[in-house]
Amino acid sequence: MHKIHSAVVLPLALGTLLSACGSDGAPTPSGSGSPKDTGHSSAAALPSPSAASPVLAEASKAFNPRLLRRFSPARAILKSESNPLSDEKIALGRMLYFDKRLSKDRDVSCNSCHKLDAYGVDGQPTSPGHKGQRGGRNSPTVYHAAGYFTQFWDGRAADVEEQAKGPILNPIEMAMTSGDEVMKRLRAIPGYVDAFSKAFPAEPSPMTYDNLGRAIGAFERKLTTRSRWDGYLTGNASALQPSELEGLKIFTNVGCMVCHTGELLGGTSYQRVGAVEPWPNQEDPGRFKVTKNVADRMMFKVPTLRNIAMTAPYFHDGSAKTLGEAVRLMGKHQLGLDLSDVEVSAIVAWLGSLTGDLPKEYIAEPSLPPNSTKT
Ligand code: HEC
Ligand code: HEC
Repeated sequence: MHKIHSAVVLPLALGTLLSACGSDGAPTPSGSGSPKDTGHSSAAALPSPSAASPVLAEASKAFNPRLLRRFSPARAILKSESNPLSDEKIALGRMLYFDKRLSKDRDVSCNSCHKLDAYGVDGQPTSPGHKGQRGGRNSPTVYHAAGYFTQFWDGRAADVEEQAKGPILNPIEMAMTSGDEVMKRLRAIPGYVDAFSKAFPAEPSPMTYDNLGRAIGAFERKLTTRSRWDGYLTGNASALQPSELEGLKIFTNVGCMVCHTGELLGGTSYQRVGAVEPWPNQEDPGRFKVTKNVADRMMFKVPTLRNIAMTAPYFHDGSAKTLGEAVRLMGKHQLGLDLSDVEVSAIVAWLGSLTGDLPKEYIAEPSLPPNSTKT
């Protein structure tokens, strides 16, 4: 009844997909998320495959527990050598993240589009920014984003520190005209003058736009969650339900993990959306916009699958409303597979185990420094 894709066992999928994906070479390692320092998942920790249905039993048979080495548990802090963290820097970054005064009309903050109490998204296909204008892309989550090998759907910023300086000056997002204009506004707020000197104590003139990016980036480097999946990877075999384990097996066996791999189950490479069957919406050419290289048409950074059940709608164009639909589209366009309803729901069940606990205290909205009478 259901088509079994046992022919697409992973070793084969790995070989064919990595060449078919059109990336220049193997997925770029992020330098983070490498499994070397994690010490998780020995094959022995794995529960024995269950035989829920003939289809799934077939998938179970082909499951190779050594594939778990391709994943690793979430780190709590996504460190950067060039931006060492301090409590003061993080506190400043948190204020800036929530402060609408960083936008032209003082009505949009980072948190407007990346709501921290809603898993870092706003639940809309595209987000309203300055004067309600919308860009063409879905707002991705900021949780774990600091662990990506590059930022944005098309990789046009290297890290979260650089990324943070973008939206403030984007005419349809926060619409400030220059970094100088932003810093002029902040210099008139005494609480920020104080917070910048505490965050960058060694610097005689700490109120720079680059330091604003560093402070927000520092705050983002601890926007991480831990889920039952992490419990499983660190040896708690009962952290996943049998139905979720079946989903994991199907996910790995059909080849999803070729692209969604590592600590973040994504964020390590660019891949073509529509690797096997062209993506229905060809309007946004993805990384091609950045490089103008035809080989980069429809190439997008593979997003994380952590907290994916909480971040609908999906894809750069916000075109999939439900996770089931997103999984089915991935099967079709990335792998050329018609996943059955049973397979889709098993994968969706497993993806649910990637929902982590929000760091409630860390993300609590701080009180913001008041305007001085001069402002
Ligand atoms: C008007 C809505 C809006 C506002 C305001 C906004 N963003 Fe975004 N953000 C987006 C969209 C849309 C994207 C994806 C754009 C793209 O990839 O081209 C994005 C991308 C990102 C990413 C990259 C994540 C990834 O998956 O690569 C991070 C990090 C981020 N934003 C943080 C911030 C911070 C920090 C601020 C405040 C300084 C901010 N954003 C303000 C909508 C917004
Ligand atoms: C060839 C690489 C590749 C394979 C294989 C692949 N994906 Fe993806 N996946 C991507 C890319 C690239 C995106 C982003 C596409 C976009 O938004 O345009 C993505 C996006 C997603 C999203 C939406 C994420 C979000 O935040 O919007 C989900 C869910 C997903 N993939 C699940 C899967 C599942 C499940 C499978 C296996 C059935 C799979 N993927 C196979 C590359 C791949």
